[in-house]
Amino acid sequence: MNVTVFGSGYVGLVQAAVLAEVGHNILCIDIDEKKVEDLKNGIIPIYEPGLSPLIERNLKNGTLNFSTNASKGVEHGEVIFIAVGTPPDEDGSADLRHVLAVAKSIATYMAGHKVIVNKSTVPVGTADKVSKAIAAQLAERNAKNLTFEVVSNPEFLKEGSAVSDCMRPDRIIIGTSSPSAEDALRQLYAPFNRNHEKIITMDVRSAELAKYAANCMLATKISFMNEMAQIADHVGADIEQVRQGIGSDPRIGYHFIYAGIGYGGSCFPKDVKALISTASQMGISPGILNAVEERNQAQKSYLLEKIKEHFGNDLNGKTIALWGLAFKPNTDDMREAPSRTLMEQLWQLGAKVQAFDPQAMEECQRIYGVREDMQLCGTKEVALSGADALIIATEWQQFKAIDTKAVIEALNNPVIFDGRNLYEPKHMNDNGIDYYCVGRPKNK
Ligand code: UDX
Repeated sequence: MNVTVFGSGYVGLVQAAVLAEVGHNILCIDIDEKKVEDLKNGIIPIYEPGLSPLIERNLKNGTLNFSTNASKGVEHGEVIFIAVGTPPDEDGSADLRHVLAVAKSIATYMAGHKVIVNKSTVPVGTADKVSKAIAAQLAERNAKNLTFEVVSNPEFLKEGSAVSDCMRPDRIIIGTSSPSAEDALRQLYAPFNRNHEKIITMDVRSAELAKYAANCMLATKISFMNEMAQIADHVGADIEQVRQGIGSDPRIGYHFIYAGIGYGGSCFPKDVKALISTASQMGISPGILNAVEERNQAQKSYLLEKIKEHFGNDLNGKTIALWGLAFKPNTDDMREAPSRTLMEQLWQLGAKVQAFDPQAMEECQRIYGVREDMQLCGTKEVALSGADALIIATEWQQFKAIDTKAVIEALNNPVIFDGRNLYEPKHMNDNGIDYYCVGRPKNK
């Protein structure tokens, strides 16, 4: 099928590459000329495992192309994806400017029937807004006879495993009440719908809400466990044992019940805020969502409280090693990363930070520039050297096995603040390390 994807950000790019890989003919449109030029040469703006070879292969065999030419894009695709950004507005609601601009372009250039697919995470009612924007522009062109359908088809990919999530989706939600649009998407997704039925069809608004409900449910699980961890800390229980004790109940499950220093990234924080905003606009008080958001904000400062407990409120003259900058492993993304809150708070208290991350160093440099109180180190060992404490903010694989002797040798004080519960408190204690983590007794 000829498919156009508007937007070569995270979602658009992965979707385009994966659709090209199974044999569809994809044209990906972006307004950023430099980005498009880079992509044509196989230079990819994000780090995502498996994405680079996919793009290279499909560029070479001609099934994947990039362009800034919107008119060409509209002409090319019988199915057109809108996968542009929806950054949060000041009040937390999703900013639809880019989505509606694409809708307008589609209506400006279309010459025949089009199936338009909302892939970006957008508030309930956006498909209707896109339809209205297209209809208005068609009326302007005196082209009311042209037909189109707007479908909601939310993505569920996770950063770090986006390619495999897209290749092997758990479910494919198609929100439309048009049988012909449903048929088009069934055909498009047939290569991903082998072995068992993954397609779930529903009306447009339910599909739009399903996406938010999924992310908000997951964010709720995490915030709930973070609250339990704080309770565990105070009553002398161990959140890791509690986790196993409750995860074994299939109604609860083992996924997304790891306590830590809060969720970050581009989806959870944004989607929770956007759904709070939607609910509030409807006059509903979203008590649960507000609590999830509040707990997450507080959780990002959880380690700092322990650091203050240990060192006092003045960190002038202290150097802190920080392992992990990305909001989670296997990505270079630092959007809403707990590491940022931590670093900024440490700087405020006068500390210097020596940081290491396997992927996100460039991104960190881009965000913070050059600062005297931030040193980006080439290895995790260099980051430790001469520091007064080690903080762990991201659970990268390479941090999981720790050489306690080397840590004790490198640090001025053998103290670790672990925001991801990577080590056994007893092992740390036995090896002479003062070990603080989240929801686990210190001296077990
Ligand atoms: C998420 C959803 O998982 C995905 O389905 C959706 O399409 C986009 O949002 P992503 O933001 O890439 O994906 O990351 P995810 O792996 O879900 O992790 C989100 C955050 O939650 C990370 O900061 C992670 O550290 C944190 N987390 C996750 C926990 O603190 N505890 C857990 O048990 C799980």
